[in-house]
Amino acid sequence: MQREKSLLFRRPIDSALIGPSILSANFADLGKDVRAVLKSGADYIHVDVMDGHFVPNLSMGPAVCAAVRRAAPRAWIDVHLMITNPADFVDPFLAAGANNLTFHIETVRKPAALIRQIQSKGATAGIAIKPATPWTAIKSLFSLADVFLVMSVHPGFSGQKFIRSALPKVRAIRECISENQRVELDGGVTPQNAQICRRAGCDALVSGSEIFESKNFARVITALRSG
Ligand code: DX5
Ligand code: ZN
Repeated sequence: MQREKSLLFRRPIDSALIGPSILSANFADLGKDVRAVLKSGADYIHVDVMDGHFVPNLSMGPAVCAAVRRAAPRAWIDVHLMITNPADFVDPFLAAGANNLTFHIETVRKPAALIRQIQSKGATAGIAIKPATPWTAIKSLFSLADVFLVMSVHPGFSGQKFIRSALPKVRAIRECISENQRVELDGGVTPQNAQICRRAGCDALVSGSEIFESKNFARVITALRSG
């Protein structure tokens, strides 16, 4: 189980992986929401970390990640670092039980070194781009990163409208990477646009408000996956 878990972002998959973003969960009952989405078919849990500097919002830190880990000891935890100094938080998030750490290309000068550092500690590593950043900005990392996160909203808030210009970026990245790597789309993903996301080559879809604001998590997760 442990081995399989560690490979979630590194093995070929049959259908899209669905990762609910707990930014839209009920923070007062987080453990219950985490367990409920996993029981409803979620493949992993997406943890959005915001510092009020790289993005205009504050969200959660390692303590919340540790709480998710306690609530779901076997879950795959995908941490999306929307913070100015991601290198400073690699160890705290790994100690808090994260399986994957994704940071933004816009925040670091030596992304390859940070990816290697994360991987050397037994986690997978992702690189993210904001809507204004071209996919070519991460080209040099195609042979290195496990996950390529394309933002389809401006980072900082859930519940925003999907930005379609993310799709050509997904397509371009997918053509250059292997089936053992992931293209993850994040922001404004709904059952209505899941199919075009899949067709563009996405194999991991993050969804916050659509899932947590629904009364039936399983129905939305199944709809996202079947696109
Ligand atoms: C935005 C976050 C997303 C977001 C997704 O900065 O990275 O993960 O919470 O939420 P929805 O699906 O509501 O756009
Ligand atoms: Zn995110």
